[in-house]
Amino acid sequence: MTSPDPVPLSPRGVDVATIRAADHAARHWTSSAAGPLAPGSEAHKRAVCAMFHDTFNPYKPSVIDWPKLDAATLARIVALPIWDIAVQTEGKARLRMAAYARTIADPLMRETIARNGWEENRHKEVLSKMVAAYDIPLAAEPDYVEPRDPEWAYLVTGYSECIDSFFAFGLFAMADRSGIFPPELIDTFEPVMQEECRHILLFANWLAWHRRTMPAWRRPWFELRVAAVWVFLGWERIGLAKSMDGDGKQVAQDNNFTVNGTRAVADVELSVPELMALCLSENDRRFSGYDRRLLRPTTMPSLVRLGLGALRLTRQLLRPRRARAAVAA
Ligand SMILES: [Fe+2]
Ligand SMILES: [Fe+2]
Repeated sequence: MTSPDPVPLSPRGVDVATIRAADHAARHWTSSAAGPLAPGSEAHKRAVCAMFHDTFNPYKPSVIDWPKLDAATLARIVALPIWDIAVQTEGKARLRMAAYARTIADPLMRETIARNGWEENRHKEVLSKMVAAYDIPLAAEPDYVEPRDPEWAYLVTGYSECIDSFFAFGLFAMADRSGIFPPELIDTFEPVMQEECRHILLFANWLAWHRRTMPAWRRPWFELRVAAVWVFLGWERIGLAKSMDGDGKQVAQDNNFTVNGTRAVADVELSVPELMALCLSENDRRFSGYDRRLLRPTTMPSLVRLGLGALRLTRQLLRPRRARAAVAA
């Protein structure tokens, strides 16, 4: 796998100009190609791959200067029920993306998905360094097994990232605004968050390219697989899938942390609609700097917009009834 050349970056390091330039470049990109980019076309594929290459952020996990934490903050971080699942998810994502990349005949798309896998491994390194710096206990990692069906594994990982990132964007903004965590720690994870945005941007556009370039006879089977992935992820997220430690014991890790972790990252109570509205605005903000001609992941934002719209409508319909009841009382 090609490793991009990293340059040192630390949250409060001396090379602040490099950090700022890399952060800005990672979230703003427009193709120099003129005219529309038909999804799945050669021009669209070139633009997607160029976006992923040009927005690479060269931070280096080995030089991150982990800030000292006071006892309460450290205890809060150690207690988050996510560390095992986060480390293992990044490990699996790296392997699955690398495996799927090897099956792609198109050299440009192959290199791009492989680069995505490389970045997942870097996320795992960031987490491993943090876990070591703060003495966070971890369960033994499972063996990472090569997927037998790389396309299925990549679809599961890609859609999973689309769901998790949507909620993580909102939770991360809450954590940032809460002031509970040191700004250095927020700064360290900011490029990781934006990378997940780039990853799901790539995934949504790869999906369009893959659909357009696959033989027509494969398409119905592929759409069935996409539907099956959603069923699988729904099953996983209602808690039927539990993580195991090295001894086969169940570990209290939270597959749904990105959905219900508000109280763990901020000392404020946020209603579900308020949290969803924050996730939506953060999602829009993170995608806003990329070429409008590239496709965005739509399922989670659409579902949440639909849910919030239905809630507003229900409230409007109930308001006159409540008012009448109040007058009658
Ligand atoms: Fe990741
Ligand atoms: Fe990712």
